[in-house]
Amino acid sequence: MDKTIVLESITKVVHECGEDMLTSSINSLKINTKTSNRDVVTEKDLSNQNRIINHLSHKFPEAGFISEEIEDNAFPSNELVFIIDPIDGTMNFTKDMGYSCVSVACFKNQKPYVGVVYNPYRDELFTATLGGGAFCNGNLISVTNESLSNSLIQTNTSSYYPELRDETITRVQSILPKCINIRMAGAAALDICQVAAGRAGLYFEARISLWDYAAAALILTEAGGEALDLKGNPISYNLEKTSIIAGPRNNIDSSELING
Ligand code: IPD
Ligand code: CA
Repeated sequence: MDKTIVLESITKVVHECGEDMLTSSINSLKINTKTSNRDVVTEKDLSNQNRIINHLSHKFPEAGFISEEIEDNAFPSNELVFIIDPIDGTMNFTKDMGYSCVSVACFKNQKPYVGVVYNPYRDELFTATLGGGAFCNGNLISVTNESLSNSLIQTNTSSYYPELRDETITRVQSILPKCINIRMAGAAALDICQVAAGRAGLYFEARISLWDYAAAALILTEAGGEALDLKGNPISYNLEKTSIIAGPRNNIDSSELING
């Protein structure tokens, strides 16, 4: 399957999802709790998910799907697999914070092949295809050459896992003196794209899911960055939750956040 055809199909449907997010009334949004009041799903997560799966399964009947709001996801054995976060930054969405996105990756033989992250609030479409570079709205992007000391760092507290809070705060305390400041914006896929676009110098988080980083990690690596776990291993692309540190290699090293 040609990467360009996959990219065009994903682009069309994420734009439709973004349009629907922008025109929905936040005050009357149906919101359900998942594991706690920090972990919620809205009717728009579900309608985006349905829209994306319907569109892509029609175009690519041979493909398999993983998506955040599907219960009991398992990694399909299909050659092509789409990995979907129908809204990354759902809590932001319910609070009308204007920092959420739609994230869709296509994997070929279990490896990232195409990645798309769409931020409807800024009408920014981040895209990458394997070996084809990374783009924002069609313009080539790359990670920053700035040192950590001249950079903002993106992170978050993995808020569905309160037991990880202390380790995140410890990392924040160790990194704060080495950078300009920390941002906890609340949408991992967008945070990684800020690093890919050279706006932030590094992103890390103690535990995230495949759908949070599947598309953005390809965008980041195509932009010249690296995505590792916090033990220093290349990030895994499976359904195990993982820690992550993502950015230009020199910033990963100078952060001293990798703890073997
Ligand atoms: C969450 C956001 C958040 C990150 C969490 C993710 P969701 O995704 O990306 O920034 O801290 O780890 O789970 O649930 O809004 O799709
Ligand atoms: Ca989500």
